[in-house]
Amino acid sequence: MAQASGSPDVPSMGRRQFMNFLTFGAVTGTALGALYPVVKYFIPPSSGGPGGGVTAKDALGNDISVSKFLDSHNPGDRTLAQGLKGDPTYLVVTNDKTLADYGLNAVCTHLGCVVPWNASENKFICPCHGSQYNSEGKVVRGPAPLSLALAHADVQDDNVVLTPWTETDFRTGEQPWWT
Ligand code: FES
Repeated sequence: MAQASGSPDVPSMGRRQFMNFLTFGAVTGTALGALYPVVKYFIPPSSGGPGGGVTAKDALGNDISVSKFLDSHNPGDRTLAQGLKGDPTYLVVTNDKTLADYGLNAVCTHLGCVVPWNASENKFICPCHGSQYNSEGKVVRGPAPLSLALAHADVQDDNVVLTPWTETDFRTGEQPWWT
């Protein structure tokens, strides 16, 4: 006699069980996928530093040496470095030629262009739609709705360690919008 028609494809499991298994797998996979960014958020970036910080790097990906940096920059300079999450971040040289204790995320709060520093205007001026930020990154002209995000910049072993700024924004007296 020929094989009975309708014999199950998966002999050890009934069809319903098998479908449940597939559904469970799909749901679990989706849930794990959704969790990935959450889990990643809690894993500190690989470049180390305390409290989830990163060491600021130059355009070539090398750690910035603070002594060399200050030797080659003038008071008032704002210079791009790779910062938290790889975001372009301005390091600020103060008027007494030390490194400011904050860095400025260069990503425009309007639509995300990188905002250049305009030394002659003493402002950051976005080339995309004309938003302007003062020398501390506080928005002074729209359409950007918010100031540039801050990061702490601390000197450790001649490196700049950038850590998330979660305290009050000293420019506005408000809670940071970026946390
Ligand atoms: S992206 Fe900067 S003003 Fe629009």
